[in-house]
Amino acid sequence: EKGGYPHFMLKEIFEQPDCIHDCMRGRINVESTSVVLSAVIDNKDRLLAAKRFIIVACGTSWHAALIGKHLIESLCRIPVEVEYASEFRYRDPVIDSKDVVIAISQSGETADTLAAVELARSHGAFIYGICNAIGSSIPRATHTGSYIHVGPEIGVASTKAFTGQVTVLTMLALTLAKEKNTIDEGQFLAIVQELNRIPDKMKEVLKLNGSIAELSKIFTYAHNFIYLGRGYSYPVALEGALKLKEISYIHAEGYPAAEMKHGPIALVDAEMPVVVIATQNGLYEKVLSNIQEIKARKGKVIALVTKGDTVISKIADTCIELPETIECLDPLITTVPLQLLAYHIAVCKGMDVDQPRNLAKSVTVE
Ligand code: M6R
Repeated sequence: EKGGYPHFMLKEIFEQPDCIHDCMRGRINVESTSVVLSAVIDNKDRLLAAKRFIIVACGTSWHAALIGKHLIESLCRIPVEVEYASEFRYRDPVIDSKDVVIAISQSGETADTLAAVELARSHGAFIYGICNAIGSSIPRATHTGSYIHVGPEIGVASTKAFTGQVTVLTMLALTLAKEKNTIDEGQFLAIVQELNRIPDKMKEVLKLNGSIAELSKIFTYAHNFIYLGRGYSYPVALEGALKLKEISYIHAEGYPAAEMKHGPIALVDAEMPVVVIATQNGLYEKVLSNIQEIKARKGKVIALVTKGDTVISKIADTCIELPETIECLDPLITTVPLQLLAYHIAVCKGMDVDQPRNLAKSVTVE
C-alpha cells in the first residue's frame, strides 16, 4: 500500500507531480490557454460582488491560505484576510452577506474550520470550500467549492494536499482575474502555461532526494532551525518549519526574512541552521542581504536557489538548486525540497514520520 516507499509521507511527496496533474485535469485545457474552475464560473456574480474574501483554515491549510491571499490580491485586486479558524470563530467577527469566506481543509473534518464555516454562513456570507476528502463535512456545509483531487493523504504531515491547495487557489485566482478583467492576456497565458509545466519541474526537484537525504545527516544534532522567506516564499518558510517540527521534534520557526532584525536574529550563532528561500524573483536582492546578515552572525545557511545562481552559492553553506519558475508559482517548487529535508532529518533521528507523537490526521475536536 506504500507503493514500495518506506513511509506514506515519502510516497505522498513523490506523488505530487501526478497529483498536480490530476488537480488541473479538466480545468486547464491542453493548449494551456484557459482555466475554468466551474465553481467560480457558476458563482461569479456572487464572488465578484464581494467586498472582501476571508480565508479560514488551520495548520498547513492556513499556510496555503496565505499564498492564496497573495495570489488573489495581486491577480484579482480583491482584499483578502487570512484567519486561523479557531480564532475567527470565537472573536464575534464582523462579517455579513457581502463577504465571501473560503474554507481550506484537506480532511474536510477539522472541527474549528467547520465551526467557522457555520458561523460565517449564519451571518449570510457566501462560503467556498477547498477540500480533499470527497463528501466530508466541510464541503457539505459550504455553498460551493472545488476539490483538490490529490487522492487520500495518509501521512499525518500534510504534503500533497498543500501543493494541491495552492494549485486550486492559483486556478481560482486566475479564473476570477479573467472574469474581473484584472489580468492582461499575456500575464494570464504565462501563468497558465507555466502551471502546466509544474509537474515536470517537480519531478526534477524530486531527483534531489538522494542529496537532500545526505545533507540531512548533518543536521540531526540541531535543536533549533530557522526558516526564512519573503513574499510568496514567506508562507513556504512557515510550512517548512511546521513540517520539521511535527515529524522530527526539532524546534523550528518560520519568519518573513526582513523580520529577523526585529528580534529573532539574536538567536543566530554558529550552531543555528537557517534555511533561506532565495530563488530568483523580485525580492532576490533583499533576501541576499538577509543572508549576509545571517552569515555575519556565523549562522549555517541552507539556501534554496534557482539553478545557475552564482552569487548566493558563494556565501551560503549549502545550496539546493531548483528549476526556475515564475514568482507566483514558486511555492509549488520550493515546498518540495523542504518536505524532503524534514522527512530525511526525521528518518535520520529514527522518528515515526507517518504517525508523529501527539498528533492526529484530522483534528475533529477543538
Ligand atoms: O484537514 P485540514 O487541512 O483541515 O487539517 C488542518 C491541520 O490540522 C493540518 O494541516 C495539520 O497542521 C497537519 N498535520 C500539517 O502537516
